Order: sequence, then C-alpha cells, then structure tokens
Amino acid sequence: MRIDIITIFPALFDSFLSESLIKKAHDKKIISFRIHNLRDFTADTHRTVDDRPYGGGAGMVLKIEPLVKALASIRKTKKSRVILLSPAGRQFTQKKAVFYSKKYDHLIFLCGRYEGVDARIKKHIDEELSIGPYVLNGGEVAAMVLIESVFRLLPGVLGNKESLKEESHAQEGFTEYPQYTRPENFRGQGVPRVLLGGDHKKIAEWRLKKSKKTHRITTT
Ligand code: 6GU
Repeated sequence: MRIDIITIFPALFDSFLSESLIKKAHDKKIISFRIHNLRDFTADTHRTVDDRPYGGGAGMVLKIEPLVKALASIRKTKKSRVILLSPAGRQFTQKKAVFYSKKYDHLIFLCGRYEGVDARIKKHIDEELSIGPYVLNGGEVAAMVLIESVFRLLPGVLGNKESLKEESHAQEGFTEYPQYTRPENFRGQGVPRVLLGGDHKKIAEWRLKKSKKTHRITTT
C-alpha cells in the first residue's frame, strides 16, 4: 500500500513513521510513504498556504491552488482514494479501516488546517473523514489514526495472525477481554483464578463473558 500525505507540518510524521510495526512494515515493503509539504506547491515568495475567508470572520482558510497542485503531482489509479481529514467529515470506523485495507492500495491524505479548507476542494477528493466528535487543530493526528488502523490489517504486518483472528471478537461486535501477565501477585492484586487453571473451555467462557461487558466495535 502506498500512502501519500499532504500537510503543512511534514515533520509531525517523522517519528510516527520511523518506529515500531509501521517501520517494520515499511522495511518489509508492505507500505511506502511520501510526505508532501503543501508549501512546496505555492508560487509566491512567502509560500502562502492560507488566506482570510470571503465574507469575513475569524481564522484562516487553506487555499485551493496549492492543494490541487499537490494532488495533481501524485499519480493515481482506480485503487487510489483521496481523503480529506476534517472535523466536518463522516466519522471513521473500524469497518472503514477493514474496507480500505481490502479495497485500496493507495491512500492520499489531505490534512486540513486552521479553520477550514476552501470548499471547492470537494470536487478533488473522494471522501471527507473525521476521527470523532471533537475538534483538532489539523488533520495530521487524524491521518496518523487512519494510517495506523489500516496498515495493521494488511497481510504480513502482524506477525501473529492469531492477534487478528482474536480481534474478530471485534467482528462479532465485542471488544477484547482483560489480559494479565506476570507477576501473579502485584502489590496484593492477583490474577483471576480461571486464567491460572489451564482449563481452556472455562477460560474461553470467561473471556467471552468479560468481552461482552465493554463497549462495542463493529466491523461489518
Ligand atoms: Cl480529521 N480534523 C480536525 N481538524 N479535527 C478533527 C478531525 C479531523 N477529526 C476529529 N476532529
């Protein structure tokens, strides 16, 4: 999967993309990244990416020309998806993460900033997404959320396929059960007895019961 990110804060992605599983997936050539600095697509000496809104009001609006030029610089195919990150978008879900991981091999993220993006961008994007009902200063962190939730579903990323299969508890609409590891006694807090016993049927029942109690994630 190829991932292009258009942003005015490219450095925000440096550590995110160079640690942990995402780095491993990159080294294994499962994913590749290209970060595009929106300012590189401006034509004026000040490299202006934003301007005051027509009609007045507070805040600045991301200008359309640099955004469209940046998008035009990226080669697209039928399996590319152009996604604008904005608090006004439809809410991202696990179901969408699964869908993207299967249907597309190229995601292009346009990170909104300031109080908005020139509305004429709509013609140039496939979809506008939000990550939840709260406001961020920009779409960068949201892009990271999408990238992390999608790339981990790609074949070959999670070494242990069981991890994904167990997550399909999520498929059935439950979240995961509580987990414990050593020590068996931590400052007086123990571990549920059933987990220490080795009765796999009982353990499975206990886990199912505990799973149902937390909030739900739907992937279907
Ligand atoms: Cl994608 N962008 C911004 N600026 N705020 C958000 C968001 C995105 N999703 C939730 N809040």
